[in-house]
Amino acid sequence: MKPPLLDAIQQRYACRQFIADRPVSADALAVLLEAGRLAPSAFGLEPWRFVIVTDAAGKAAIAHACFGQPAATTAAAFIAIVALVDELDPDSDYVRARFEAEARGADAAPIYDAYRVHYQADSITAWAQGQCNFAAAQMLLQAAHLGLGSCPIGGFDAAALTSVLKLPPGETPALVIALGHCSYPAPERLRKPLD
Ligand SMILES: Cc1cc2nc3c(=O)[nH]c(=O)nc-3n(C[C@H](O)[C@H](O)[C@H](O)COP(=O)(O)O)c2cc1C
Repeated sequence: MKPPLLDAIQQRYACRQFIADRPVSADALAVLLEAGRLAPSAFGLEPWRFVIVTDAAGKAAIAHACFGQPAATTAAAFIAIVALVDELDPDSDYVRARFEAEARGADAAPIYDAYRVHYQADSITAWAQGQCNFAAAQMLLQAAHLGLGSCPIGGFDAAALTSVLKLPPGETPALVIALGHCSYPAPERLRKPLD
């Protein structure tokens, strides 16, 4: 028997054209959020926020911010993954709450000490966006497991997307996931050989 997770990994591909008028159910979107929520993150900081967009006007605005790429213009739904950048300041209430949780009742000071050594203000945005990719990967695989098509989209105008998503200062878009039912079967996978 093929392991189910490997099955989903093999089935997933970046779909660039979704079938019109085939929505993604609210139940499926909830499952995808749960898959993202449970993703690992460095220091357990979970520096992300997930924004679901399914309304026609919102989708059109996101597609525009994604330069009109076909995966975006035909998507039935989007999950935008937003990086929480300012919350990662070592002195923020957010970090304090996360580290208290991460310490599970023990002293959180060692986690703080390690994080203060690690934290670099000038590269924290890219670091936070990198964390978001773990949540994205879990959502993409969960979508494949549900029989949904998906396309991760990193090609967007960050300022336009920030405006569309009405992000507050300190938050920045990391990745957009376009979702729907793909209009064509899986193409041949192009990958380097294992060796
Ligand atoms: C971080 C990231 C950003 C991506 N951005 C785009 C994008 O803007 N537009 C697009 O069509 N595909 C995008 N892709 C999809 C890749 O092109 C695709 O995953 C790759 O070519 C491998 O193909 P496969 O996913 O079908 O196996 C992105 C993938 C990742 C991981």
